[in-house]
Amino acid sequence: MVSELKQDIQNLLKDITTNISKSKTTSELENIRINSLGKKGSVTLYLKNIREFDIETKKEIGAYLNDTKNKINKLILDKKNVFKKEYLKEKLRLEKIDVSLTPYEAEAGTLHPLSRTIEELYAIFADMGFTIVDGPDIESDYYNFSALNIPEEHPARQEHDTFYLQPDINGQRKVLRTHTSPVQIRTMEKIDLKNFNEIRYIIPGRTYRSDHDATHSPMFHQCEGLVLGKNINMGHLKGCLIEFCRTYFNEDNLPVRFRPSYFPFTEPSAEVDIGCKKENDGSLVIGKGEDWLEILGSGMVHPRVLQGVGIDPTQYQGFAFGMGLERLTMLKYGIPDLRPFYDSDLRWLKHYGFIPFDSPSLHSGLNGIFS
Ligand code: PHE
Repeated sequence: MVSELKQDIQNLLKDITTNISKSKTTSELENIRINSLGKKGSVTLYLKNIREFDIETKKEIGAYLNDTKNKINKLILDKKNVFKKEYLKEKLRLEKIDVSLTPYEAEAGTLHPLSRTIEELYAIFADMGFTIVDGPDIESDYYNFSALNIPEEHPARQEHDTFYLQPDINGQRKVLRTHTSPVQIRTMEKIDLKNFNEIRYIIPGRTYRSDHDATHSPMFHQCEGLVLGKNINMGHLKGCLIEFCRTYFNEDNLPVRFRPSYFPFTEPSAEVDIGCKKENDGSLVIGKGEDWLEILGSGMVHPRVLQGVGIDPTQYQGFAFGMGLERLTMLKYGIPDLRPFYDSDLRWLKHYGFIPFDSPSLHSGLNGIFS
């Protein structure tokens, strides 16, 4: 009886061994393991059945079966290792590199002109003690309009050609920010007046208006500036922006003009024009001639805006400015059309792009503007 059983088990082991050695994949191996050692596997069934035998048989066959189990486990493990080695060998074969082949020509990418402009702004304003901050593209009506002294029904809301999002569960309609000015509010809200001396921020980012032609894109970029402190006045605004324009356009004598204007969140407000000449062929020469070109909006932060964020306008004053970065880029580099900015056309990028590691250098000393 015992030897018959042992013979049966031995035959089973023989079959399983053959199957293991014939197997070609790890999943085949796994099937063999389940069919022999799994819950309903052939070896497991033997183990279950020995319960009916007498103690001596149980002992002997039990030990024999355990031994068989161990053998099967080892065979499976060995075979798995064979597979692993074969897999590695194949991988090495496939991934082999022929170093004698002619290499592909290395393609150097270029820095998008807009990124270049942003880098230049960072360099110029960092020199004047500004820090970079940002804010969200999706804004509430409060930050984009109301907190900036643009009440409901105000015509400025229509002028902004706002993209509205679907109302949320509270019926509130968020907007894609139409300018970077809402970040003025967000940064001023964070000021701890007890430890406050002065802030100088620039805020670059994406802005959105439903407008699309050769010089307008529904998504465009602005850079906001905000300086707030004690005794900040229009002279600081002018000094800062003249210096910025001259450094950015690389023209020490660039004519810069401040033209009275209106923004609900600044008082007084001024638009900044630079001197240029419009040639007959439509091209522009910056810094020379009789014509003027508007490049940014600015003004002293409106007392109502300061009050709205809990800052006493008799104690603190500030100035703010905002400019369109595509426009600045087009003017500086003579790019006539805005639309290809977002086409990812490699020919355009090669033509107008910059060598990435060639960081902007400034020609002018920017000292004493705030002193
Ligand atoms: N937010 C204004 C615009 O988009 C620009 C601006 C910013 C004007 C800050 C004054 C002060 O046109």
